Amino acid sequence: MHSYRGTTTLVTGASRGLGTAYATELARRGSDLVLVARSAPALDELATRIRAAHDVTVTTRAVDLTDRDQVAALVHDLDPASAPVDLLVNNAGMGPAGPFLDRPFEPHQTAVDLNVSALMALTYGFGTPMAARGSGGIINVASTAAFQPMPYQASYAATKAFVLSFTEAVAEELRGTGVRVMAAHPGGTDTAFFEGTTHTMDRRFVDSPDDVARRTLDDFARGRSASYPGQRLNQVASWLPRILPRTATTRITGKLNRTLGLDAARALTA
Ligand SMILES: NC(=O)c1ccc[n+]([C@@H]2O[C@H](COP(=O)([O-])OP(=O)(O)OC[C@H]3O[C@@H](n4cnc5c(N)ncnc54)[C@H](OP(=O)(O)O)[C@@H]3O)[C@@H](O)[C@H]2O)c1
Repeated sequence: MHSYRGTTTLVTGASRGLGTAYATELARRGSDLVLVARSAPALDELATRIRAAHDVTVTTRAVDLTDRDQVAALVHDLDPASAPVDLLVNNAGMGPAGPFLDRPFEPHQTAVDLNVSALMALTYGFGTPMAARGSGGIINVASTAAFQPMPYQASYAATKAFVLSFTEAVAEELRGTGVRVMAAHPGGTDTAFFEGTTHTMDRRFVDSPDDVARRTLDDFARGRSASYPGQRLNQVASWLPRILPRTATTRITGKLNRTLGLDAARALTA
């Protein structure tokens, strides 16, 4: 069983939602924290709350992870000799919704920059010193969206498919080295994920971020290579695309997303 006590964990996207839940649960389990997101005030507020409740060290870094120079500076500044990161939680992510060609392009590019490029760069940047010292861990937050193409969330699901494939491959490369890599696949979770769009989640079918964080960290501690930290149905649904033809899967997902109104979703500012 992996113990989090006395370790240092870097959590991206810690300023709200699942990232805040991961940070809070890690602090409860005794891990020091490096909290990363763009919003410095939200990170500072969370750090103050955690320090008041738990005997852990918390530092914050306001970083735009879509900016490659800022990502490189983050990796560079956390010197593995003096301030090693034992666990990296690549949680920051965003997902545009709506018909791909009918909506502005920029959010799709941002999703790739954040969900794919930053996650890969941080895995490389913090994973390399972990491999050199033969210990450490990486949790990449993917999604149930990783398992099939998703019309009206086309770029989002594709970025998460990357996270799934990439994480499984790197986990296998590192098997037996002392560095463990796990993908987490939450389903709908009660966060501000769709904030800034016309779409809202149906709260009857979502999990709480606190439950998702707790189950993810339990699964990692148990040595799992994949975590399905939400409702049981999420894992079952991830099996269907492995059985059905891809065209059938894509049509079913498209129909489901139309039923949920994602075909009409748009950014509030667009
Ligand atoms: N909620 C769900 O239903 C759900 C389901 C499956 C998987 N997930 C995944 O879970 C992860 C967390 O999602 P969430 O629901 O907690 O979303 P959220 O509430 O929207 O939070 C996203 C976090 O990412 C940070 N972030 C966004 N852009 C950033 C950037 N350019 N640089 C640095 N940080 C950035 C945000 O902080 P700032 O704005 O302060 O930068 C925020 O802390 C994502 O990877 C998401 O794909 C979510």
